[in-house]
Amino acid sequence: MIEASTQAIEAFDTLVRTRRSVRGFLDKPVPDSVMQQIFETARWSPSGTNVQPWDVCVASGEVTKALRAGFISRAKNKEKIVTDHAPDGRLDDLWRERKRACARALYNAMGIEWEDKAGRASAAFRNSEFFDAPHVVFLGMHEDFGTQTAADVGMFAQTLMLAMTAHGVASCAQGSLRNYPDFVRSTFGLDDKIKILFGISFGYEDDKVPANTARTERAPLEEIVKFLG
Ligand SMILES: Cc1cc2nc3c(=O)[nH]c(=O)nc-3n(C[C@H](O)[C@H](O)[C@H](O)COP(=O)(O)O)c2cc1C
Repeated sequence: MIEASTQAIEAFDTLVRTRRSVRGFLDKPVPDSVMQQIFETARWSPSGTNVQPWDVCVASGEVTKALRAGFISRAKNKEKIVTDHAPDGRLDDLWRERKRACARALYNAMGIEWEDKAGRASAAFRNSEFFDAPHVVFLGMHEDFGTQTAADVGMFAQTLMLAMTAHGVASCAQGSLRNYPDFVRSTFGLDDKIKILFGISFGYEDDKVPANTARTERAPLEEIVKFLG
């Protein structure tokens, strides 16, 4: 059993709170040795009955450039988006408001007015550019798995992003990277049965990018957790 210590608690809390979505990266690759350590840690994520359902495809160098070019051209040409999984349904007011607050934080950081449709579109377009990140990882799973198993892939993703944070590597999870799954499959030579859930752009933060000053809040504990007994 792990021995609880103030040091470990503080270190973990700091790690969790330090991770945030970074949307502007330096043109500086993550060294191979750091990359290996990060993914080695993420490998220890839990999953139901330990099936380890995740398919993890990491792009660097020329592969990232080719993927970026492909996402950009598809977005510019307004290519029909056909995701592997059905999108969420209509969000209720509570969640819509949280979603708006998240968007407002980003637009404020970028100096974009809510009414500025073109500005908002160019902010969204940054997703296709992977926010200039030198790396992108796609997370998928076999089509035989359903939503219960998608939760396992989420566990992997959070472990991965925390491991990145510990190594000083910034990241941004992107649901938008599920938009062109056939292109991702053909790039990595994936079987058609491997379905893409989302991607994560990562690398070293460019702290001169205004978008990176955006900060999000969280709902208070009493709003989200019921403690009984
Ligand atoms: C599965 C998932 C998908 C996301 N998709 C996007 C995305 O497509 N584009 C984007 O800019 N941020 C995306 N985000 C980042 C969220 O907006 C962000 O995590 C949230 O606002 C909380 O902010 P923080 O990560 O800075 O703590 C995504 C996050 C997750 C976990």
